[in-house]
Amino acid sequence: MERQQNRVYIFDTTLRDGEQAAGGNLNVAEKLQIARQLSRLGVDVIEAGFPAASPGDFACVEAIAREVKDSVVAGLSRTKKEDIRACFEAVKSAPRRRIHTFIATSPIHMEHKLQMKPDEVLEEIRSAVSLACGLVEDVEFSAEDASRSELPFLIEAFKTAAAAGASTLNIPDTVGYATPDEFYEFCQAIIKGVDAPKAVYSVHCHNDLGLAVANSLAAVRAGVRQVECTINGLGERAGNASLEEVVMALKTRADRYGFVTGLDSTKLHPTSALVSRLSGVHVPPNKAIVGANAFAHQAGIHQHGVMKNPLTYEIMNPEEVGASGSELVLGKHSGRHAFRDRIEQMGYVLTPDQIETAFTLFKKLCDSKKNVSDGDIAALIADEILPASGEGLYELKHCSVKTGNGPTLAVVTLANGKGDISDAATGNGPIDAAYRAIWRVIDLEPELLSFNIKATSDRSDSLGETTVLLRSGDVTAPGRGVSTDVIESAVKAFVNGVNRLHVLASAKGVELSVKKHKHHYE
Ligand code: KIV
Ligand code: ZN
Repeated sequence: MERQQNRVYIFDTTLRDGEQAAGGNLNVAEKLQIARQLSRLGVDVIEAGFPAASPGDFACVEAIAREVKDSVVAGLSRTKKEDIRACFEAVKSAPRRRIHTFIATSPIHMEHKLQMKPDEVLEEIRSAVSLACGLVEDVEFSAEDASRSELPFLIEAFKTAAAAGASTLNIPDTVGYATPDEFYEFCQAIIKGVDAPKAVYSVHCHNDLGLAVANSLAAVRAGVRQVECTINGLGERAGNASLEEVVMALKTRADRYGFVTGLDSTKLHPTSALVSRLSGVHVPPNKAIVGANAFAHQAGIHQHGVMKNPLTYEIMNPEEVGASGSELVLGKHSGRHAFRDRIEQMGYVLTPDQIETAFTLFKKLCDSKKNVSDGDIAALIADEILPASGEGLYELKHCSVKTGNGPTLAVVTLANGKGDISDAATGNGPIDAAYRAIWRVIDLEPELLSFNIKATSDRSDSLGETTVLLRSGDVTAPGRGVSTDVIESAVKAFVNGVNRLHVLASAKGVELSVKKHKHHYE
């Protein structure tokens, strides 16, 4: 990567570390939407996935590599030869591609996880980085659990990687253990000790103590020039450093840091909304930069001050992060152009056919709703345009519920390509009853890990959007459903989740355990 003075490079790992945490459950179409938007946002590197992890991961990285032109497309890889070759195959069609290889260097990881001696780890680094450098020009090496590694050994590990040709040396705080002042000194000592002036030093901080952003910024002050982060701070456990917070801290406090990034900060809000919707991980209202309340002033004294001069209580302008708050509502008189512009502003890049389908669905929705919000449109796209092929194993044909003084009864009919299957069940409320009826119809016995219903706007004619997370064996899958009828949205989400369990299991090459009983077809 060409180096620029006063520039901090942003390496986005939403589609790898972030997606790993969201259950590894985004399909190719969804990952492509996010990758396109990350590229429009201007991130320098998109870590698209871990190609050797599963055929599904490989396919996603390959699809992103084929399409993204402006950002470097990176794939993650262990130091194993097969991983590195798979990674190369997946990223090779990207005009700017990177192999990111890693191995742990802390005593606890080397002894208990890798069961390798330090010398063997150094040899792994040397051979993996050399192999990767023979395949691509741009190679990054990460010393996993660097912050708990012994400094002299870590320096040796990075020297070995640099000598073998790695151009980026990444210092992960894998378990979120570091503190800012300590991490500053640690990064400074590494940069001095490794003494590889051509290398770009990088950090990858996890948020277990809520310090990921602070640690990343401390590292920048110490000389690090690449920050690895994710949209909405998505990531393993408590997440990774939040991209929007790192970028806006560098921008708002340029007086202190003196660095720029190449990002268009006005696209932060739409990108956050896109990732939240597609990953099913909601953004808390008080989340810095992108939370719904990030620019809301409740106290009268604050409101008064902001009306007189926004700078009294606002250190950033909402427009700077794309959070103008003045959502333009579309309705039945809105034309194709307005509709297309709106979905582009929201971060979606759709084909002309997909836009046409989305527009037809939008017009249909306008018949039942006067005003259609961004949330409604995004829900329609997620529900109708982006489902993976093969997701339609089961289709909801009918659902009715009877509530009253007695137990709630639900009757559900699903089609599975061979015919219609119906069953009924009672439950604790209409959704519980409907879910029990679906359980009787489908061939799996999934566990419901999470359930959430949300309105897509703050009006009473809003759509209800349900997200669920289902697990069957080792496979977890999200399900989404939208409808003006909240019970139907919940049922659609469950059916979508079951379909996705099948799609993800086949992408990962694993068998789901299927129920033995036979269905009756009507
Ligand atoms: O947290 C970590 O150490 C990682 C590495 C693979 C970079 O995600
Ligand atoms: Zn990580």
